[in-house]
Amino acid sequence: MKDIITQLQQQRARAERGGGEARIAAQHAKGKLTARERIEVLFDAGSFEEWDIFVEHRCTDFGMQDKTIPGDGVVTGYGTINGRLVFIYSQDFTVFGGSLSEAHAEKICKVMDHAMKVGAPIIGISDSGGARIQEGVASLGGYAEVFQRNVLASGVVPQISLVMGPCAGGAVYSPAITDFIFMVRDSSYMFVTGPDVVKTVTHEEVTAEQLGGAATHAGISGVADRAFDNDVEALLMTRRFIDFLPPSNRAGPPQRPTADNAARVEKSLDTLVPADSNQPYDMKELVLKVVDEGDFFELQAEYARNIITGFGRMQGRSVGVVANQPLVLAGCLDIQSSIKAARFVRFCDAFNIPLVTFVDVPGFMPGTAQEYGGIIKHGAKLLYAYAEATVPKVTVITRKAYGGAYDVMSSKHLRGDVNLAWPSAEIAVMGPKGAVEIIFREEAKDANAIDARTMEYREKFANPFVAGRRGYIDDVIFPRDTRKRLCRSLTMLRDKRLENPWKRHGNVPL
Ligand code: HXC
Repeated sequence: MKDIITQLQQQRARAERGGGEARIAAQHAKGKLTARERIEVLFDAGSFEEWDIFVEHRCTDFGMQDKTIPGDGVVTGYGTINGRLVFIYSQDFTVFGGSLSEAHAEKICKVMDHAMKVGAPIIGISDSGGARIQEGVASLGGYAEVFQRNVLASGVVPQISLVMGPCAGGAVYSPAITDFIFMVRDSSYMFVTGPDVVKTVTHEEVTAEQLGGAATHAGISGVADRAFDNDVEALLMTRRFIDFLPPSNRAGPPQRPTADNAARVEKSLDTLVPADSNQPYDMKELVLKVVDEGDFFELQAEYARNIITGFGRMQGRSVGVVANQPLVLAGCLDIQSSIKAARFVRFCDAFNIPLVTFVDVPGFMPGTAQEYGGIIKHGAKLLYAYAEATVPKVTVITRKAYGGAYDVMSSKHLRGDVNLAWPSAEIAVMGPKGAVEIIFREEAKDANAIDARTMEYREKFANPFVAGRRGYIDDVIFPRDTRKRLCRSLTMLRDKRLENPWKRHGNVPL
């Protein structure tokens, strides 16, 4: 028996050495942790249960029969993060460059299947040279098996991708299907074709970092949700992030104790909106002042900054926050912000997370770039997402809510449950000046007349009371009471039940 135990220890130790000291040193020299070190940082101490440590590839081509390393380039299993069950796979670049063999894919599929069965989130750490070249089509099949599971798991368990090294070619489509992608600056990249192919085909010269690094995807393409400075920061932020998410679509939003008073009054909010309605202000200040303890996990903070999306808590329960940002492009809706917010709203709706929407939107962005780019279709995504959502929806209009954008931003007409407005709200078809120039065109040459008409229009429509008289707004509130009113509304909505008509699935304008 003693011999067998020693043998087991030796076999485990061999697997745990991965690709060996030299390759581990090379990994560290690139500023990256190994697959196992990442799991250690991510999971609660001692909670990780590893599976399939003895799995090896079955390839016999190109001399591969003599090159096997137990585990085959991916560490898989489950453990807890802040006490909550999470499944994981973490690709090991020190073993065959983390490349995906048939056996490697089977290991990933096994943990994904279990995550689905028990209803727990799955985190995938990508650090891989892609398809195991020696295995050819068997590797492609393996990728497709993973993609299929990503799709079936979508909306059932949260899926988070941490891209912490290379992730190129078709391999990018697994993270792309998952709910959130976090990347690390200067050591991770994602692209469909690398710099060499780009140079050959389009004659553009770019580095891997420029083409698909964390800054590119977090700021330009919108593929990534967050970019972090190093592995440890990315992993610790993921620990913080996962606390906002329910384990599956069968559970409600997670709840945790908070010392923050639900009735906390924020007097400073009474002066947040400037007297001049064309003057910008920082909507993030409002978000930070109403959520529990100012704890807000923002997503895509560097992308489409005219809309803010992220998670916070109200009375200890997670909420998804969507807010127009008047500081950027006056907070208008354009292609990028519509897509960003639509995807976020759909995630929240899929996972029973109530939506809190703060509105200050002058309308949709005009221009050929927007029209040619399909703002009609992309703006419709956000409309569709809000209209389809059956989770509790609470909306606060702080200032402008003009035109179609008023309708889109979780209005009463899209089954908004509680729609509140600040006294500074202006709910109308368009801004006073634009409106007057259209309906009093014949007076356009007379500046005084136009000013008087503008004043008249402003008094009549640039306020929340017209909408209030129709019941489109449930109440006009003091800004300082926003947190209290939101908390009460969300408590009232806790057991909300609403179902959409049966369908195979809707046809969201993609
Ligand atoms: C097998 C691979 C591999 C792969 C790397 N290795 N990628 N082995 N299949 N795809 C091995 C290397 O041979 C090397 O082994 C070790 O991993 C480390 O690789 P290095 O090249 O030394 O590392 P580095 O210089 O950091 O370069 C990393 C890299 C490069 C940029 C990822 O390895 C690379 O270009 N690899 C090939 C990428 C690729 O073309 N993959 C297929 C893409 S197609 P030794 O023993 O020397 O240490 C694809 C399709 C997916 O992925 C389809 C999904 C539908």
